[in-house]
Formats: sequence, structure tokens, C-alpha cells
Amino acid sequence: MYRPTWIEIDREAIAHNVREIKARMGHQSMMAVVKADGYGHGAITVAEIALANGAEMLAVALLEEAIELREAGIQAPILMLEALLPEHAPIASNYDVAVPVFSAEWLREAKQHLTEIDHLRLHIKVDSGMGRLGLQTLDELDAVLKELDPDLMELDGIYTHFATADELTSRLFEQQQTVFLRFVERVPGIRYIHASNSAAAIRLAGQEPCNVVRIGIALYGALPSDEMSSYYDFLQPAFSLKSRLMQVKHVEPGQTISYGATYTAPTDEWIGTVPIGYADGWSRKFQGYALIVDGTPCEIVGRVCMDRLMIRLPRAYPVGTEVTLIGRGAPIDEAAHWLGTINYEVLCQFSKRVPRI
Ligand SMILES: Cc1ncc(COP(=O)(O)O)c(C=O)c1O
Repeated sequence: MYRPTWIEIDREAIAHNVREIKARMGHQSMMAVVKADGYGHGAITVAEIALANGAEMLAVALLEEAIELREAGIQAPILMLEALLPEHAPIASNYDVAVPVFSAEWLREAKQHLTEIDHLRLHIKVDSGMGRLGLQTLDELDAVLKELDPDLMELDGIYTHFATADELTSRLFEQQQTVFLRFVERVPGIRYIHASNSAAAIRLAGQEPCNVVRIGIALYGALPSDEMSSYYDFLQPAFSLKSRLMQVKHVEPGQTISYGATYTAPTDEWIGTVPIGYADGWSRKFQGYALIVDGTPCEIVGRVCMDRLMIRLPRAYPVGTEVTLIGRGAPIDEAAHWLGTINYEVLCQFSKRVPRI
């Protein structure tokens, strides 16, 4: 690490979050969702911590993400959540990665690519109201069940995904549960039944018919939505983004800062240059946002550049002073609100240029 800009992952916070969620889930197993490089925290790190603290399974979006975990020596069951191209079915089988079956056509095609050495694990994906991926009718489910070939594949589970579990007054949440139940009744004795994300899991803790919950954002100590704060008051944030002042300079009134000269110092000021920019994932939209130096909010003045940004300091701090962009005093939700987005997107947006330590 040659540049003093880094993401600090609090491993103990992840372990705490996993243990506390698990303790509330009764008989339900936990599938830790580590897609998108563990929501930006590092998939292998998070998977290992989650498995060591009570999670039994993992979920990823892409086959590449599953292979990364297998190549790191992780042997726990892995479910890929995105649709797999049928021609890649033997690869999923080879790495023992379960995949969603979302149409009879997909299954028919995938079968054509499998040979007697393959054994593809499948979870039926039900679209109970999200409108994204999955079977919408019981007839579609029957068509899938007819296509199953026990010599080449194993039906491991059935699942769905909620669109509004984090909205406490949404009726769609209840409707989706009802629809899903009808599908589950059609596959008695199936091994894994799962529907809940972080928001739903804490609301429906332990409820039948599900015996697995898929937990993403809460593992990382962030809230699924503001509405969920009372349910998740035990979470500890695991993600901090930090840097250090590279240069501190005195500027005269009238001096402008950064591209476009959009900021003009109104009086004598101390300006600190911080080595992080939009190429790292720190958006230009953060102009005007406050970073924390020595416990004090310091506004970003002028445009955020590709590799650095400038903040107005209350005094001449020494070069090397720590700057917190996300972390204590600078909550992730504040950054998300500033950008008009959700904490999930903020966590995923930092590039590989920023080391995770
Ligand atoms: C299918 C599926 N299950 C579970 C999750 C985890 O959701 P959350 O991070 O809200 O817990 C996601 C996340 O997007 C998902 O797409």
C-alpha cells in the first residue's frame, strides 16, 4: 500500500452481527450473501468470518464469485443467485455450486450440456412478486419438475425474493409470502426453503415454512432501510473508509479550488488535500459533503478530482492527519442520502484501487 487511502474492515463487527442474527433465527440456517465481493468488504474474508460464527451456506451472484470462494478452499454449500447460462452448467457442477432453475426451457437446455460425470444442484426460483427472475405459475413449476433428471441433477431447494420486506406497511410483502407458500406445498420434503433477506428475516424470525434465511446487508452492520432501525439496533458497522492529509496549505481570499474553479475562498482558509477521488469510487457528487478530521466535519470544497479532493480545515493540521470519509462520525447512510441512493450501492462502489485491510 503506497498511498494512505484504505478501507478498514472490522472483522469482529461482522462476527458479532452474524452471531446476533443467528441467535434470533431459531432453527433457521443462515446463508451469508457475499456477492459483489462481500458488498465491497472482501468476499473471502466475510465468508470465512460468517462460516466461523454460525452461517452454514453462502450466496453469490456470479459463477466467477463462487469459483473465487472455492479456489480459496471454502467447502460450504454455495448458491449462485443470478441466472446461469445453460452451457455453463457443467462448470457449476464441477465446482459444486447450486444454481437457480427459473424455467423449464432453461432446464431442458442445461441438461443437454450435462454428462454422466455431472451432478448439478438446483434451487427452484419463484417469482412471487419481485418481477425479476423465476417461475410465476404452478404450471411452470410442474413443467420444471417434469424436466428434472435425477441422474444429472439434484433438487436442493426452493426460494423467492421479497421486493418490499424493508417497508413496514407494504402489503406486497404478505402477498409474496402467500404466493410462495403455494409453490412450497407442491414440493413436499424439499431440503432448503428460503425467502428472507435481512429485512424479512428479522421480521419473520423462525417462521415456517422457511428453514434458511439469506442475510446480506445486516452482516455488514448496515440497515436494509431506515424503517428497520428498531429491529436491527444491535448491528455494528464493519466498513470504514479512511485517508490522510497529503498537503495542507493556507489560501488567500479569492483563491479558487479545483477544476472549474467552482469554489472561491471567501476569507483566509486552510485547505487540505486528500488522496482519494472518483476513480476510487468517491463520486464527484460529494462536493460540499463533510469529511471528519480530528472529530470535526470538514467540507469538500471544489470539485472531486479523479485521484484527490480538497477539504476546508478549521486550522493547520499536520500532514498525515487521518481523514474519515465513512466510519465514526460519518455514517454510511449519510453518504447514501447525500448521493440520493442506498447504503448497498455506496458499499459496492469502491474500486480495487482502495485496499481492504
Ligand atoms: C436473491 C437475494 N437474496 C438475498 C439478498 C440479500 O439481501 P439483503 O442484503 O437485503 O439482506 C439479495 C440481495 O440483493 C438477493 O438479491
